[in-house]
Amino acid sequence: MASPLSPDAAGTRHPWYNEAGPASWVNCPMRFALLGPPGAGKGTQADLLASRYGIPKISTGDMLREAARAGTDLGLQAKAYTDHGLLVPDEMILALVRERLARPDSGAGFLLDGFPRTVRQADSLHEMLAQEGLALEAVIDLEVDTEELIRRLSGRRTCPVCERSYHLVGRPPRVPGMCDLSHGALIQRDDDREQVIRERLAEYRRRTAPVLSHYQTQGLLRPVCGQQPADAVTAAIIGQLEKRSN
Ligand code: AP5
Repeated sequence: MASPLSPDAAGTRHPWYNEAGPASWVNCPMRFALLGPPGAGKGTQADLLASRYGIPKISTGDMLREAARAGTDLGLQAKAYTDHGLLVPDEMILALVRERLARPDSGAGFLLDGFPRTVRQADSLHEMLAQEGLALEAVIDLEVDTEELIRRLSGRRTCPVCERSYHLVGRPPRVPGMCDLSHGALIQRDDDREQVIRERLAEYRRRTAPVLSHYQTQGLLRPVCGQQPADAVTAAIIGQLEKRSN
């Protein structure tokens, strides 16, 4: 990938860049991942945290839905998997992430929402970052009971314009059926039907749970209880992230 550490065409370096090289970056640029089962609240928290830290949220789920809406080959191929609750093949996801991480705004740090979801994705991410002298600094694991996940997903409504998520009971929009931010009409995602939700949860247990063990072994995993009010979850995540630099 093109290096976010390099000067741009005008010779301007990122403000956090230190001439001595990547190892001496100051102000602790944030590079972390938010994992957890479908409906755990990753997207909700990612929006809040990206805004707090001024770093981009990189959501593979959002990117796939955007590609499907745009009717690209990748988007349409991916939809055949997402509509059945299955993970999209690693090659497709890795191509998307590689391209996204190469953009200059990722140089100050980034928040990965729902990536990596397989051990292969985790290994490839490690290689991509290592090529730039970088590494993932923390992996937040949002923990929520299955019954609560089903309740959240079946009541979720999403804005197809800005991807903000709502809940019919827990987080209703100000005007029923309409996004508070974009004012677009809210929809129910195709993969939020009960049968597909169950398949997504099974796929998570089969293929993403090993990623958590992988990061546990590396000492990067930070479990957070996701089954509390959203602002309490945000505070718990911030506590986990900021304690690493103390
Ligand atoms: P993706 O969009 O990433 O879906 P997901 O991981 O299944 O997660 P969700 O977006 O469903 O839930 P969330 O955890 O973000 O919860 P949210 O904040 O919305 O991926 C979709 C598909 O794309 C995958 O199934 C797969 O096919 C494919 N894909 C994506 N990435 C991939 C990858 N890396 N590799 C391969 N395939 C990939 O909240 C849910 C609901 O709960 C909302 O209604 C919200 O308002 C509510 N809520 C949130 N927080 C709380 C709280 N604290 N208390 C009460 N309610 C809450």
